Amino acid sequence: MNTMPANDTAIKHAVHLLRQGRLVAFPTETVYGLGADASNSDAVKRIFQAKGRPANHPLIVHISSSDKLDDWAVDIPDMARILATHFWPGPLAMILSKQANVPLEVTGGQQTVALRVPNHPVALSLLKAFDGGIAAPSANRFCRISPTQSAHVREELGDNVDFILEGGSCQVGVESTIIDLSGDKPKLLRLGHITQVEIETVLNTQLIVNSRQSDIRAPGMMAVHYAPTTSAQLYPSDSFSNIVEEFCRQYKKIGLLAYNQQLKDNSQISIIYMPEQAEAYAQNLYASLRELDNLKLDIILIEQPPKSELWRAINDRLLKATSTV
Ligand code: TXA
Ligand code: MG
Repeated sequence: MNTMPANDTAIKHAVHLLRQGRLVAFPTETVYGLGADASNSDAVKRIFQAKGRPANHPLIVHISSSDKLDDWAVDIPDMARILATHFWPGPLAMILSKQANVPLEVTGGQQTVALRVPNHPVALSLLKAFDGGIAAPSANRFCRISPTQSAHVREELGDNVDFILEGGSCQVGVESTIIDLSGDKPKLLRLGHITQVEIETVLNTQLIVNSRQSDIRAPGMMAVHYAPTTSAQLYPSDSFSNIVEEFCRQYKKIGLLAYNQQLKDNSQISIIYMPEQAEAYAQNLYASLRELDNLKLDIILIEQPPKSELWRAINDRLLKATSTV
């Protein structure tokens, strides 16, 4: 396994590997992806092996522009074209009816496919040079925290990835918003940086938001996901410092993801103070959780940040990181 800054030579090498059916990790604006040639079933199967992900969990196909939509999807509704115009390149994935030639390995056996044009110069250069679709889930092992830096990819996948394009820290930091447009009405499947309200405003219609776990096929929607190995718990801001004191009596080593409470430091605790603004909080969230997780603490306590619209994707990920179901 090899990491290289994403210059022209590295992109060429990445394209060469993808054409051979190998796995290349690359930065997107959300998180790093683990990419394979989406038209090569054997290459796609290797993604599932590398991640330890069950084969029925479908992947997102990344394309270089909305001009390529018709190569991958059929019966594309107007709403999809409108969303593509507004939000691509960007952190939005759309589920559409798949073209006959999209391998079932990519779609987890379903007749629908997830498509996204990422807004990252390295991802876009790679897609243009490859001139095809790249299937890429987040480059972490199944049910682990998504990587927002190339070092996280190495930590997660080691030799299971053939090449990593180094592109710094991801700007958005949480995975894309997912909208299912394959049914009668548009459905919100995963919260992300692009909010429900933004999408509803552009479409001039309300999204169906389905929280019934049994109906959801996206693993990003399962309760246990994006979770650190260390047990993590979320507590309200106003009682946070008292909670911390209580836990200090029960546990030896405690990690804190603090928001606005100034906390008394002591040798038992490792504190990360998170940024005040939602965008910066999201950017730092996974790296911070990972940092605390790597300290092999007894428990991680998270101070509840605000709950307004801009914070919804963050709260969704915090609930998943702290869920024990
Ligand atoms: O931001 C992102 O979307 C990142 C970057 C790398 O683009 N990718 C990502 O991929 O988060 P992944 O595989 O970790 O999450 C993709 C989600 C999964 O929850 C998957 O089940 C859902 O998309 N998905 C993909 N195809 C689907 C389909 N046909 N129907 C329903 N859900 C689908
Ligand atoms: Mg993922």
